[in-house]
Amino acid sequence: MNPDADLPRQFPPDFVWGVATSAFQIEGAAREDGKGESIWDRFCRQPGTIADASNGDTACDHYHRLESDLDLIASLGVDAYRFSISWPRVQPLGHGAWNEAGLAFYERLVDGLLRRGVQPHLTLNHWDLPQALQDQGGWAARSTVHHFVAYARGIHRRLGSRLATLTTHNEPWVMAVLGHEKGQFAPGVKNRQTASQVAHHLLLSHGLALQALRADGCRTKLGIVLNLGHHEPATGSPEDAALARLEDARGRRWYADPLFLGRYPQEVLDELGPDAPVVQPGDMDHIATPLDYLGINYYSRTVSSAAGPFDVTKSGLKLTEMGWEIYPRGLTEVLLTLHRDYTLPPVYITENGGAFPDAVVNGQVHDADRTDYLRTHIAATAAALAQGVPMAGYMVWSLMDNFEWASGYAKRFGIVHVDYATLQRTPKDSAHWYRSFVAQCHALR
Ligand code: NOJ
Repeated sequence: MNPDADLPRQFPPDFVWGVATSAFQIEGAAREDGKGESIWDRFCRQPGTIADASNGDTACDHYHRLESDLDLIASLGVDAYRFSISWPRVQPLGHGAWNEAGLAFYERLVDGLLRRGVQPHLTLNHWDLPQALQDQGGWAARSTVHHFVAYARGIHRRLGSRLATLTTHNEPWVMAVLGHEKGQFAPGVKNRQTASQVAHHLLLSHGLALQALRADGCRTKLGIVLNLGHHEPATGSPEDAALARLEDARGRRWYADPLFLGRYPQEVLDELGPDAPVVQPGDMDHIATPLDYLGINYYSRTVSSAAGPFDVTKSGLKLTEMGWEIYPRGLTEVLLTLHRDYTLPPVYITENGGAFPDAVVNGQVHDADRTDYLRTHIAATAAALAQGVPMAGYMVWSLMDNFEWASGYAKRFGIVHVDYATLQRTPKDSAHWYRSFVAQCHALR
C-alpha cells in the first residue's frame, strides 16, 4: 500500500513549506573575515563538553559554499529557508562596531534566496552569543538585553524589508535550562537562579526588540520560536498527573504565558522561591508585546513519572537515534493545547525531524525512517489545522546533516547527507520524497 495515500495535500494557499538550519551548526569559518568568538566556540574547547570532541570550526563549510547550498535549497522546490545569523560574525563584540564582511555574507544569502524564489526566514539568536558579552555576564546580565535590541535594529536596518519573518530567539528554554541550569550546553553554567534570570532576559529582550523594530517602521513579520514537547503522565495516578502539569508549566507555560498572558505561571514562581528572576516594573508588559507569528519546534513527547525517570525503551514506541520517542500525535496535542490556552497568531512548525543512522550506498541514502517521521508529523500538523489551529507553515529540521551541539557530528538530522571528510552533499531519499510532496501540494493550490 502507498503510505502517502492518506496524507493530506490540501493546505491553505499561502502555507509555507521549508527547510531549516542555524549558523553555528553549518557555517564553519569560525575565525574568518573578522568574525568574533561565540560562546559555542569557547564551550567546544572545554574537554568533555562535546560527545565526539568536535567543534564548529568547519562544520558543513556553508560559509564557503553559499552559492551551491542555495542551489541545493532551490532544487528542493521549497517555499522557505529558515536560517540564523551568527551575532559575533556581524558584531564581533556583541555591541559597537559592525563587521561589514559578516553583514555582506548574510546579504548575499538573503538576496540569493530571493533570486531563487525562496522566502528568507531569519533568526537573530540561535544560541551563539558573542563571547565578549558572556565575559560581561551574558544573558544573566540585563545589559545584554539592550545590546540584543541594538543588534536586532542593526540587522533590520540592513536586511529587514527583504525578510519574510524575523525571529528573535530560538528555544529560550534550551538556552536557559541546558545552558545555565544543567550546564550541558554553552556557556555551561549550573545555577537555577541564573537560569531563571536568563529566561527572563531572553523574553524581555524579545519584547523590547519587537517594540524597537516596530518603532523603526518594520513591516516584516516578527515572532519567537519555542521548543514544545507534549507533556503526558506515565500512568493514571494523581502524582503523575500533578507532575505532568508542573513539567508543562516549567517547559511550556513559563515561556508562553508571559508572551500571551503577560505573567509567569504562579506554581513555577512558587517552586523557584528565592531563585525566581528579578523582574522590574513594566517588564511583563514588554514581554507581552503582540506577536505576528509563533514558531514551534517539535520533536517528541515528555512523559512525567513521579516514581523516577520514565524509561522510553519500555514505551513500545520507536525511538530516533537521539533516543527520542516518535510520537506524531503529540504535535497535534501541543498545537491544540496552545489553541485552547491562548489567542494564537499564525503558527509555523519551525523545526521537526529526526536523527537516524544514515549511510551513503552507491550515491544514495535510503532513510525510510526519516521519510516516515516527516510524513506522520505533517499529517499531525494537518490534523491541527483541520481542528482550527491557524497553521502557517512547516519546516524540516534540517536541510543537511550538521553539528548537533553536545552530540557533535554523530547525529544526522539532514534530508541531505554531508560527508564530513569531503563535505560533499548527497540528497537522501527523504529529500526526494519531500520535494515531490511539496510539488504535489503546490499543484493543488
Ligand atoms: C532544536 C534546535 O533548535 C536545533 O538547533 C537542533 O539541532 C534540533 N533541535 C535537534 O536537536
